[in-house]
Amino acid sequence: MSKFSRRQILMAGGFIAAAPFVSRISALAASRKITALPMPPLIEPANGETVTLTMAKGKHSFAPGHSALSAGINANYLGPVVRLKNGSDVNFTIQNRLGETTTLHWHGLFVPSPQDGGPHNIIENAFDWKVATHVNQPSSFNWFHPHLHQNTARQAHMGLAGLMIIDDGKDRERGLPLRYGVDDIALVLQDRRVIDGDHVYAPDAMDLLHGFHGDKLIVNGVINPTARVPAGIVRLRFLNGANARIFHLTFGDRRPFHVIASDGGYLAKTAQTDVLRIAPGERYEALVDFSSGEKDITLYTSALDESGGDKLTLMAFTCTEELQSDIETIPQALDGPGTADPSLAIRRRRFFMDDRMKANMKVMMANSKQGGHGNMHDMMQMPAGGHQHGGRTASEAGKQLTAATSGFEMAVVGKTFDMGRIDVEARKDSYELWELSSVDMMHPFHIHGASFRVVSQDGKPPLAWETGWKDTVLVNRKTEILVHFNRSSERKSPFMFHCHTLEHEDLGMMGQFITV
Ligand code: C2O
Ligand code: CU
Ligand code: CU
Repeated sequence: MSKFSRRQILMAGGFIAAAPFVSRISALAASRKITALPMPPLIEPANGETVTLTMAKGKHSFAPGHSALSAGINANYLGPVVRLKNGSDVNFTIQNRLGETTTLHWHGLFVPSPQDGGPHNIIENAFDWKVATHVNQPSSFNWFHPHLHQNTARQAHMGLAGLMIIDDGKDRERGLPLRYGVDDIALVLQDRRVIDGDHVYAPDAMDLLHGFHGDKLIVNGVINPTARVPAGIVRLRFLNGANARIFHLTFGDRRPFHVIASDGGYLAKTAQTDVLRIAPGERYEALVDFSSGEKDITLYTSALDESGGDKLTLMAFTCTEELQSDIETIPQALDGPGTADPSLAIRRRRFFMDDRMKANMKVMMANSKQGGHGNMHDMMQMPAGGHQHGGRTASEAGKQLTAATSGFEMAVVGKTFDMGRIDVEARKDSYELWELSSVDMMHPFHIHGASFRVVSQDGKPPLAWETGWKDTVLVNRKTEILVHFNRSSERKSPFMFHCHTLEHEDLGMMGQFITV
């Protein structure tokens, strides 16, 4: 048996059963009534090796004593961390054992469009999809999740998401923490409404129009976990894997995040902040100084409006002497890109993130007259981004709808999504300036098959931690991005660009492009 297949067998039991963590978790749980942070198991294929990813349904416990219907990748909920060496070849076999059709999109991995896993790359139930690729991109923290049109939100919410680290082998030289699960910790931020039973994802009209926001915050699949960390510098890799919630991270003692990387790789220099906003689909990597060695350092997500003081507990960190600290100082100079140069752009295009709120409200009104959706009152009261502060409970939710049958439509190109229409043809290897705009609601814009730099946000220069390579950005009024179209595509399976509020994506706030 090879080293790799043994690892795969260990993983079959899911997160909690992943071998190296069992003893730490049970010792911690026994000593105090806390939930240890589950660490997604690490898969590190050798050059040319095959990684098997099996998508299947299961049962998952978000909180002690509860059991909910879920889905995962090589696990009952979420999936592994696949760490790939830059320059290596890797083969993936994706097994769909869900009992329904799906796709698996590599969010952040540089691949040609037929391998991208978008809505055209269907994997029927009980079939396998094989992808062979050569890894050639900067060190970065990425992820993978389903992308089946009109079903992305539900399938992702069930737990179908895994993580991917691209590693160029130079983190030692950079002076960065690199011991996965010790001082290099991956954190998947999500929210839920129901944590028990089979009633997993039941969006009502408001959830579809504003994006689903649950009242329970979860990290790596559990509510309010505690991570044990060495008393030193720790690297936290944050993924916002929620359908719609925007997280504004703060530590209870306001200790800073030293941001080193965004979606597409390292920044040019470390950027310090005590509030880190992260929108759905975005990733940030930050170093946090735990060298003072305290216990119970709380990480909160705060309200959009800072003065509101509406802080929700996400998780805690506790320093332990059992873990050796490796890195004692925070490197300041990194090897990310310099200032973006908009003069590289060969053309400008404008995209309005159109939530068609007026038309959708009419649909809702018509339906509620027939005793349908209801919730008109709440809907009218809802301020833009109003759900950011909390999230409704299951009993507050209205009648369940689906994206396909709701009658609602959204658009990002003036027209709602159409699998058969190519919205943009961009010259391969060119740069374009894209002007993204929104009214009332903020929308996290994501593009497949291309990386971009943020040129301006609402007329101002981007924040320091938004200046690196990205593939997802929160659009609030107006955002300009400089997009580099450096990947090849085929007309029959184009790349997507869309709102990463998954309910909006499912309602058609998505377009398609190819490079020519
Ligand atoms: Cu993370 Cu098109 O998606
Ligand atoms: Cu993507
Ligand atoms: Cu949106």
